[in-house]
Amino acid sequence: MVKILTQSMVQEAAAYIKEKTSVMPEIGLILGSGLGILAELIEDAVAIAYEDIPHFPVSTVEGHVGELLIGNIQGRPVVMMKGRFHMYEGYGPEVTAFPVRVMKEIGVEKMLVTNAAGGVNTNYHAGDLMIISDHLNLTGRNPLVGPNEPAFGVRFPDMSEAYSGRLRNLAKTTAEAQGFNIQEGVYAGLLGPNYETPAEIVMLRKLGADAVGMSTVAEVIVARHTGIEVLGISCITNMAAGILDQPLSHDEVMETAEQVKGKFLGLVMALIPYM
Ligand code: HPA
Repeated sequence: MVKILTQSMVQEAAAYIKEKTSVMPEIGLILGSGLGILAELIEDAVAIAYEDIPHFPVSTVEGHVGELLIGNIQGRPVVMMKGRFHMYEGYGPEVTAFPVRVMKEIGVEKMLVTNAAGGVNTNYHAGDLMIISDHLNLTGRNPLVGPNEPAFGVRFPDMSEAYSGRLRNLAKTTAEAQGFNIQEGVYAGLLGPNYETPAEIVMLRKLGADAVGMSTVAEVIVARHTGIEVLGISCITNMAAGILDQPLSHDEVMETAEQVKGKFLGLVMALIPYM
């Protein structure tokens, strides 16, 4: 069953948020594992609990904070999701991406989305950062299924530049200026929650994937539907299944994310003023 999220639900959520702050965010941040510390760098942040926002999804994971932070980073007004929704938790794609609709309604025009991903391209190494050039939506789900709301966007949105060429160039030159090599490639988004089999990784490589993960695609589809310019960056936390002779674990993913945190944070902080 598709849960229909209407324009009025988005407007009610947005109206509640606008009451709480006078900051009009231009940039939306949805940050994957390990980058939560960016929250501490938001100046004059107003925190709004997801559970207080009308129609907003709330996290099912115990101990997970769910809040929107609105404030300034490097002089740019931003809204950051602290806590994100994955389809493998049981949320429908339209619920996963609902916060993106709300971001648009409060004024967001650009979005930075980051994630942890497994390296499918054998030239990659754990610890690499990858600019997402494009994605393969292999989740079997789509947040735009159901009646189209014309106020959000068109029925059949173009995806020929899902990830902005301008922002990809910006990310590349910024990384170079910071003295590190950044990869650029295709992100395959799968439903999860299990890591892939080695055979699935061989398949993904043949399909043109460079990295694989379990987030991002639903949020980006909704962002593009509603006209938000998107930059996506993956942290390659591990090589995907079957490439190295070792099992995958969430601990390894978190450990690499932790090690790369400084580089990732430096890049994001340098990008925000120019997004
Ligand atoms: N596969 C899927 N999702 C992931 C991986 C992986 O290898 N690493 C981090 N997120």
